[in-house]
Amino acid sequence: MRKIRKVVFPVAGLGTRFLPATKASPKEMLPVVDKPLIQYAVEEAVEAGMEQLIFVTGRTKNSIMDHFDKAYELEAELEAKQKTETLRIVQEILPAHVSCVYIRQPEALGLGHAVLCAMPAVEQEAFAVILADDLIDGREQSCLAQMVAQYERYSSSILGVEQVAEDETHLYGIVDSVLLDKNVHRVDGIIEKPARDEAPSTLAVVGRYILTPEIFEMLKKTKRGAGGEIQLTDAIAMLLQKQQVLAYQFKGNRYDCGSKLGYLQATIEHALMHDELKDSFKDYLSQLDLEQWTK
Ligand code: G1P
Repeated sequence: MRKIRKVVFPVAGLGTRFLPATKASPKEMLPVVDKPLIQYAVEEAVEAGMEQLIFVTGRTKNSIMDHFDKAYELEAELEAKQKTETLRIVQEILPAHVSCVYIRQPEALGLGHAVLCAMPAVEQEAFAVILADDLIDGREQSCLAQMVAQYERYSSSILGVEQVAEDETHLYGIVDSVLLDKNVHRVDGIIEKPARDEAPSTLAVVGRYILTPEIFEMLKKTKRGAGGEIQLTDAIAMLLQKQQVLAYQFKGNRYDCGSKLGYLQATIEHALMHDELKDSFKDYLSQLDLEQWTK
């Protein structure tokens, strides 16, 4: 079995829920405290052993390329001013053994289409997909690293899942599954954004996937589905007719940074974990008079 070393980041979405912030810059560049969402996702991927990062980009995505590129002028200036610690932060954004590939998705036709656009770079090997707006803090291990460990055991496609509330099924891909082992389910069906009364369960796919390359054949056949988009979920539904697909309930906290509330929760909790900020931010929160804001 070949090691998983390529990861696809679909970053061509329009980010309409965060307009006007996302009018000229991608939602994946929204910062949580001091790091953009895409950097959290890249750090998770690198921790899981990924060596090639494949970004499927659209309009207004240049800032993502710039972010992972060497910034000669900035580095020279920080060096001249002897800001060694800041220089280190800038230089360590990407380890030297990791490379980036950028593929342009000509039209935002949906997540499935974005993943299909990555095919020339992925070629015929199993690969990972991370949706950066789902920010996940794994406990001892990153979410993708936990999934890679499961892949090494089962050699089949694996979807990161978690339980959601019954009134939230319309926001996710929902699986119909049977428990195989601790936290590992065999997926028997999957449906994109079902209404509460149509959902087979409340086990929702979060933005983490490990997929075998056969997914590309399925994606080529996938017609427009929910929301008029080419859905990855529909291709996975076809894939599981041919080969085993598993769902893995990861250990850790997920923040839905595609929604304003989830984004704010991520910001507050990451500030409370931030070495430099946590003490003063805790003081600030404890003195905050919530009554004043709810009058
Ligand atoms: C996408 C997928 C959906 C998945 C979700 C996770 O939806 O289509 O199946 O559950 O990501 O965040 P989106 O949030 O892009 O509408």
